[in-house]
Amino acid sequence: MLDLRILVGTQTGIAQLVAQEIELRLDDGDTRVKTSLMEDVDLTVFDGGGLFLICTSTYGQGDVPDSAKTFYEDLLQTRPDLSGVRYGLIGLGDKGTHAATFCFAAKKFDKVLGELGAIRIGEPLFNDSNMNLPEDEAAEWVEGWIRLCREEVGET
Ligand SMILES: Cc1cc2nc3c(=O)[nH]c(=O)nc-3n(C[C@H](O)[C@H](O)[C@H](O)COP(=O)(O)O)c2cc1C
Repeated sequence: MLDLRILVGTQTGIAQLVAQEIELRLDDGDTRVKTSLMEDVDLTVFDGGGLFLICTSTYGQGDVPDSAKTFYEDLLQTRPDLSGVRYGLIGLGDKGTHAATFCFAAKKFDKVLGELGAIRIGEPLFNDSNMNLPEDEAAEWVEGWIRLCREEVGET
């Protein structure tokens, strides 16, 4: 059984829809998935390490969405050792309107998690909502990603 925790940063709920779609896809008896909004957790979520999927949109001008702000700022300030953390990354954005800051919030999480010793599994998915429906693209992406996780993390 592989345990996966999805951490969602969202402004209008689309990233949460994406997480729900992923839960449906992975709910096959081999993977146990728990999803939380970043506003509902604190950094203790990383205690003991484990496998995480960061799923966040970008707002303002390349900012993390409001629901992710406290969690992100805590990471920057507290700087815990996350060497036991493995993670995947899904960014939601809009390249047409926000080309210069496309998926910056996801990229910011990627940067700080890496600095704190967490190891990313696989390439991120950066969804451009003009091109592909986020929930459809994520559902397809996660099939390959979870295979990689099984290879790299193994099952518990
Ligand atoms: C006011 C506003 C600002 C945005 N800023 C960015 C941005 O800087 N970069 C980006 O890639 N997308 C940006 N977006 C696009 C959103 O990230 C995208 O629509 C996303 O799918 C919303 O997901 P959510 O409902 O989970 O928040 C912005 C959207 C709005 C409405």
